[in-house]
Amino acid sequence: MRFSTKAIHVGQNPDKTTGAIIPPIYLTSTYVQEAPNQHNGYDYTRAGNPNYTNLEQTLASLEEGAYATVFSSGLGAITALISILKKDDLVLAGNDLYGGTFRLFNNIFSNFGVNLKIIDTQNIQEVENSMKLKPKAIFLETPSNPLLKITDIQTINKIAKKYYVLTFVDNTFATPYFQKPLNLGADAIIHSTTKYIGGHSDIIGGVVITNNEKIKEKIDFARKAIGLNPSPFDCWLISRGIKTLALRMEKHFQNAFKIAKFLESHKKVKKVHYPGLPSHSQHQLAKKQMNGFGGIVSVEFDLTLEQTKKLISNFKLFSLAESLGGVESLVDHPASMTHASISKEEREKNGLKDSLIRFSIGIEDEKDLIEDLCEGIDQIIFSK
Ligand SMILES: Cc1ncc(COP(=O)(O)O)c(C=O)c1O
Repeated sequence: MRFSTKAIHVGQNPDKTTGAIIPPIYLTSTYVQEAPNQHNGYDYTRAGNPNYTNLEQTLASLEEGAYATVFSSGLGAITALISILKKDDLVLAGNDLYGGTFRLFNNIFSNFGVNLKIIDTQNIQEVENSMKLKPKAIFLETPSNPLLKITDIQTINKIAKKYYVLTFVDNTFATPYFQKPLNLGADAIIHSTTKYIGGHSDIIGGVVITNNEKIKEKIDFARKAIGLNPSPFDCWLISRGIKTLALRMEKHFQNAFKIAKFLESHKKVKKVHYPGLPSHSQHQLAKKQMNGFGGIVSVEFDLTLEQTKKLISNFKLFSLAESLGGVESLVDHPASMTHASISKEEREKNGLKDSLIRFSIGIEDEKDLIEDLCEGIDQIIFSK
């Protein structure tokens, strides 16, 4: 079966008792047992629920992985993954990372002795040199949030394997439609399913996908022991959203590509970060490991910081909001919103300027989106 067929059919068997084509929502906390521990595979929803199982089957098949475990959020999925590490373990991560992931490591896991070291994962030599520090895992986000940096998943996996280091990839921006990190050697993938996978800005969710049975056992245990389970209703909504993932990703990509090109040629734009543009410093690598470049475009305008802040509240179709990956277009100011938990010093060291704006390009008509951008920018230039 191919991608869009799997998105519709895997994990979506009609209900056996009624014939309902759509599996029902199992809003239950517990399950009746015939005798102690004699049940139909489910005993308590914190540990398992048919709506989790359905979604896990779909997600594992789309990533071409063996196992998936769904969580209450993307950060819940990362929490489960990192909980398999121990005190004094070191994790390496790239220098452009979702702010909440950074905060989770630095404000929570560091208190339990799991340490994070930020390195430049674009620099293969630096990755190889960092192996001397004997890390237990390397956490890659590619394309990264918000600078759309691209990391060479396959090369880093080869280095990591030599040193018995686990590789975890956050595949939220690319989705399995454009990139399959397990096939490039990753040990586990996480997604914030809140984003493209759900696709409709109506749920928060996460998933870990792996081919490694031991990792699967440990993260299932973490979900149950820490209480990182999602709601069955949210999983049902994600299962519904995922059916159009292929169509949506095509349109996000088409729109984003046109908008990135348009903005690159605009006289009030200093720099456009989009891996699909030949001007992107890792465009060739992006072409090698991705089948398309996704729907996020980050931009530095040739405006003062005050004008930039005014601009982001000026659009009619691009709503000013955190998050990304929904059908509707959003605009975000990373320095004061999604990445505010990273210090200004750390942000600037890694190239994240206060003037950067991140656009999540939706699936509206691209002409309307471009008109909205033009009008918003013109209002700023011509206002006194
Ligand atoms: C790349 C990336 N990973 C993980 C997360 C966290 O996901 P969630 O908000 O579902 O916890 C986000 C959220 O924005 C993200 O952008």
